[in-house]
Amino acid sequence: MLKRTHNCGELRSANLNQEVVLNGWIAKHRDHGGLIFIDIRDRYGKTQIVFNVELQPELFEIAKRLGLEDVIGVHGIVMSRPEGNINSQMSTGDIDIEVDQLIVYNESDPLPFDVNDRTSAMEDHRLKYRYLELRTAELQNHLLLRHRAAKATRDYLDSNDFIEIETPVLMKSTPEGARDFLVPSRIHKHKFYALPQSPQTYKQLLMVSGFDKYYQIVKCFRDEDFRADRQPEFTQIDLEMSFIKQEDVIDLGTDLVKFIWKSVLDVDLPQVFPTLPYHEALETYGSDKPDIRFEMKLMEFAHFVEQSEFNAFKNVLAAGGRVKAIVCPNGKNYSRKTIDELTGYVKTYFSAKGLAWMKISGDTLEGGISKFFTEELQRKIISEYEANDGDIIFIIGDDPQVVFSALGALRLELGKRENLIKPGSWAPLWVTDFPLVEWNSDSNRWDALHHPFTSPNFEDIHLLDAEPGNCRSLAYDVVMNGYELGGGSIRIHDTNLQQKVFGLLGISTAEAEEKFGFLLNAFRFGAPPHGGMAFGFDRIVMLLVGSSQIRDVIAFPKTTSAASLMDNSPSLVDQQQLDELGLLLKG
Ligand code: AMO
Repeated sequence: MLKRTHNCGELRSANLNQEVVLNGWIAKHRDHGGLIFIDIRDRYGKTQIVFNVELQPELFEIAKRLGLEDVIGVHGIVMSRPEGNINSQMSTGDIDIEVDQLIVYNESDPLPFDVNDRTSAMEDHRLKYRYLELRTAELQNHLLLRHRAAKATRDYLDSNDFIEIETPVLMKSTPEGARDFLVPSRIHKHKFYALPQSPQTYKQLLMVSGFDKYYQIVKCFRDEDFRADRQPEFTQIDLEMSFIKQEDVIDLGTDLVKFIWKSVLDVDLPQVFPTLPYHEALETYGSDKPDIRFEMKLMEFAHFVEQSEFNAFKNVLAAGGRVKAIVCPNGKNYSRKTIDELTGYVKTYFSAKGLAWMKISGDTLEGGISKFFTEELQRKIISEYEANDGDIIFIIGDDPQVVFSALGALRLELGKRENLIKPGSWAPLWVTDFPLVEWNSDSNRWDALHHPFTSPNFEDIHLLDAEPGNCRSLAYDVVMNGYELGGGSIRIHDTNLQQKVFGLLGISTAEAEEKFGFLLNAFRFGAPPHGGMAFGFDRIVMLLVGSSQIRDVIAFPKTTSAASLMDNSPSLVDQQQLDELGLLLKG
């Protein structure tokens, strides 16, 4: 092997006449008669190397037969390129290497797709050859940026006295709400480990041990439905602190996010991130992860319904539903056909019963449901909404959850259609005051909104018995551009309160003992007040690289059906392995 003296992105005119060795892949091959020009590439860049038939006739013959993506090593002299051949697009574009030694380390078969162009193949094909897709400049850049974000995280947390502690991957199931991935035990026949949905219980135990400030960049596993921003295995920046309040975690989380954005993108995020209580987020944006890069807020429409002749919405209100509206500019863009499309969207994906609309024409309303409103009322609506001539108002009346989710999604869709989001803008915020529990009508019980260790807001503890649905928790999420970047809570550190919350969630003393006995026990031996949070690290990197696909920032991701197309996992196992584990497969 020729030991490299430089990488392929390094040589400049300052290196003229030096003897150098480069190693890399062939990215381009051009035969110009007596001269062959080859771009040799590694992760640092590309350099042009030249074979001259007159100077090196034997090498020239070998070079002729070289193909794209062959791996070679060359020795040669750095030469300046003739005037017209300088390539200002390439950092090494002033020079080339006149080759006098060549070793071919590995000849490549023709590639299944062009690694200079990610769009040259369908995604399934690229995932099958992911190691080749990782040669593309785009993915190399993503993984480099991921590394820098991880380094920034470690630097920041280290300088704030956090210590990184690893926690087990084979563990008892944690109650994060998703389905567990299970691992059968060979030694303890018929028993199973679970892969961690998060290190939640361990980090709380570390607080009991006195570690005070813990963090970990850690793999978590959840068997749930996958989407563009979700993977079955993903990475968290997980952290926990003792003797702190909610504001301390929020301050720390804000500073960490700011530090990462500054270190990786040189972007200064706002000094303080705005805070929105959960109910206000729902009322104003229809979402607990609002994209606040643009306005178009959800407005109350119920008081107009009451003064109108529109019985459909009156019935919705009488049945305990809600009616809300949004005002969108450029009503002229919304033809019957487009409105039908949008109606289909809110009906199909959000179970809305319909989508009502009215357009503003001068100082009155026209079209859609406008005929149910007197002119006076129309003027009132326009003035209260501060709407402009030509705007269109969309209205949904339905069950509260449907109104929020459908109108919230429509808001995002209209924001996109109307280009209301300034490219390159960042809008972080904290969402606080989540309810402690939500009613699960399928199973007729209260479920924890975050997880069962989340503390109720101390001001609301008196509501736990009579009105648990109105009890706020000390849980918080950090949101960026409409994505939930992370979330956490202040924990219960008192055994009695913990048992009370378990009781509320319908977890019996025996079940609590069996599932979390170790944690409850630990709380008997000096548990400090504590709390923390976890960031979705992949989502952070996804936003940093400007993508909306989490797969773009994971070296070897799974598909949305949780498969790895490269190594074909999950896969069948030998009968012998099943026998050892004492497992019998059902048909
Ligand atoms: P939570 O379940 O909210 O909290 O997870 C924290 C963050 O992890 C990211 N995330 C995911 N990213 C990719 N794929 C997934 N399947 C996935 N699921 C979650 C999100 C989310 O905000 N133990 C608690 C934290 C705590 O209370 O300290 C927890 O795991 O960005």
